[in-house]
Amino acid sequence: MNSDPGRVIGVFDSGVGGLSVWREIVALLPNEHTIYFADQAHCPYGSRPLHEIRALAEAIVCFLLDQGAKLIVVACNTASTAALYHLRERFDVPIVGMEPAVKPAAQRTASGKVGVMATPATFEGEPFARLMGRFARDVEVIRQVCPGLVERIEAGQLEGPEVEAPLRNCLQPLVDEGVDVLVLGCTHYPFLRPTIEQVIGPGVEVIDPAPAVAQQVRRVLARQGLLNPRQGKGRHVFYTSGSAESFLAMLEKLVGQRGEVRMAK
Ligand code: DGL
Repeated sequence: MNSDPGRVIGVFDSGVGGLSVWREIVALLPNEHTIYFADQAHCPYGSRPLHEIRALAEAIVCFLLDQGAKLIVVACNTASTAALYHLRERFDVPIVGMEPAVKPAAQRTASGKVGVMATPATFEGEPFARLMGRFARDVEVIRQVCPGLVERIEAGQLEGPEVEAPLRNCLQPLVDEGVDVLVLGCTHYPFLRPTIEQVIGPGVEVIDPAPAVAQQVRRVLARQGLLNPRQGKGRHVFYTSGSAESFLAMLEKLVGQRGEVRMAK
């Protein structure tokens, strides 16, 4: 394994959602170079069988390693559920993944009821069952999938009736149940946070794990001696398996960034 700490951090998701994690990594580690891969040709992942998501994730990691990645961030709860264990077995590179933030939610709830919004695949996978067994024994966790939401975010719809209506359908049952903490268990959802907070009301704390993931990236890089010692602003390159033009527009809209976007095969 090439141990040059000046190499890139590779980040991927099914689409633009992982940019909610990418922006935290860049804010925390501004001198690191990154490559972001959006698998928009196969988005959404959340309704696909786990073995299919695993194969897609494996191909993307191969691609990122070919680009010289020194660490991989699976900036997608669904891909982490389907593939994290397998990727760590298969590749000799540090890999940081994601899981719904059930542990901090269980610590913070006063009502004893926690809501988790995630994709069907995330709830279906073994990692979520394990998470529940470890951290949710004394609290009630209410799962909620929100069909169509990822597609709306991919299309750049972050507010207005097209997102408020499905959000209301998805969040009202949680409010009725009395949850006081809501976990965003899909990396697309932080881009809807203002609308989610408005719909769910002030009595519910919303948890986005992205800042904690960025901290974990820093910890792992430091532990392995892979933090980039050079100062200066990192370079960022973006790949999409969909349309480069629409990804570029989303990049500006979601994270206020203009960047180099390339089509991936
Ligand atoms: N952003 C992904 C996640 O965190 C999933 C979106 C999808 O269904 O593709 O789960």
